[in-house]
Amino acid sequence: MSKKEFDIKDISLAEQGRWRIEWAMKEMPVLRSLMERYSKERPLEGVKMSGCLHITTETANLARILQAAGADLVLTASNPLSTQDDTAAALVSVYEIPVFAIKGEDNDTYYQHLNAALDHRPSLTMDDGADLVSIIHSKRRDQLSEVVGSTEETTTGVIRLRAMAAEGALEIPVISVNDADTKHLFDNRYGTGQSTLDGIIRSTNILIAGKTFVAGGYGWCSRGIAMRARGLGANVIVTEINPTKALEAVMDGFRVMPMIEAAPQADFICTATGDKHVVDKHHFEVMKDGCCVSNSGHFNVEINLPAIEEMAVEKRRPRTFVDEYLLADGRSIRVLGEGRLVNLAAAEGHPSAVMDMSFANQAMSAIYVYQNHEKLENKVYAVPKEIDEEIARFKLQAMGVDIDVLTPEQEAYLNSWHEGT
Ligand code: ADE
Repeated sequence: MSKKEFDIKDISLAEQGRWRIEWAMKEMPVLRSLMERYSKERPLEGVKMSGCLHITTETANLARILQAAGADLVLTASNPLSTQDDTAAALVSVYEIPVFAIKGEDNDTYYQHLNAALDHRPSLTMDDGADLVSIIHSKRRDQLSEVVGSTEETTTGVIRLRAMAAEGALEIPVISVNDADTKHLFDNRYGTGQSTLDGIIRSTNILIAGKTFVAGGYGWCSRGIAMRARGLGANVIVTEINPTKALEAVMDGFRVMPMIEAAPQADFICTATGDKHVVDKHHFEVMKDGCCVSNSGHFNVEINLPAIEEMAVEKRRPRTFVDEYLLADGRSIRVLGEGRLVNLAAAEGHPSAVMDMSFANQAMSAIYVYQNHEKLENKVYAVPKEIDEEIARFKLQAMGVDIDVLTPEQEAYLNSWHEGT
């Protein structure tokens, strides 16, 4: 490889990283079975791949599967604060997979790392947030003809890609892993639910029970957050802009109101909407003293940080992932994880058992797009139903859960319109 072969914090962290990667793999039975299958079949033999993903132990296990499938892979971080430095060290030194990622890297380094991953000249890319695809379509167009396709992990990335496709600007096929049922129904809901509360608790160590917790949005991620906050004893308020989702939240038993009414009541506010300034200046103006504001959406735009920076007379860091902003009227507002994904910045991201399904979708979709790219158009495709269902079956089997099978009579009934009451 040209220039630096990798860029990580500290290679001596590798042994600790290896332990944690192996620990995670114990919770990832679907990936283990894919490892066995693909190390025999080698469907990605010699394929150059660049992945822009959160550098976690779960991602390390996905990388091991892609490597076992024959891919020549490099990785870069998909967020400046989500890298686990020991995992990055183990990927480089134990598994010999080049990584460009350092927890806390600044914006310039983040983009240098993205470019370093693209210097690998991939024919397949894997994104979590669409950064690689976006750079290939803008600043590095000379590489477009070399790339046969990509896969995308997250809701925000898929929204970006669909906007590109709608403008006719997308020039490669992309598989939307996020749309698979075995991805968003589990990762977005149970993964975000658990890991977000984990991040809020690790960063603040404040009791959730009895507090008022505001969940910004009621998509799959936010409903996971609302559900788990309620499970910990919080009084949960949901804010929404979509009438149907708001109605679902009401019927799920949550109080629903605009953010401007929720903010003065909140002890905690956590956003996961995919949109900007969900928590804005006028919300900060009415918050209670000590309110803890965080975000679990992909980009750090959901909280208007420039506004609170401007309003504050002083800023201090009382705990590692907490910035406390003192306002002129004496109130303090706490922002967790610099407004970046609190579940990855202050905790370890989604638990391995859900990433098992998300990353099985990633691995199988990458192989699918590579093998079928000649037939695919430059569009955003759903994960093929067969892949999604196979993953659900694998997971159930690994969990020791059996389900019923349709009888021939039931199958015929479902396929006919003749039989009525
Ligand atoms: N996104 C959310 N949680 C994650 C994890 N544990 N690994 C990789 N990407 C993630």
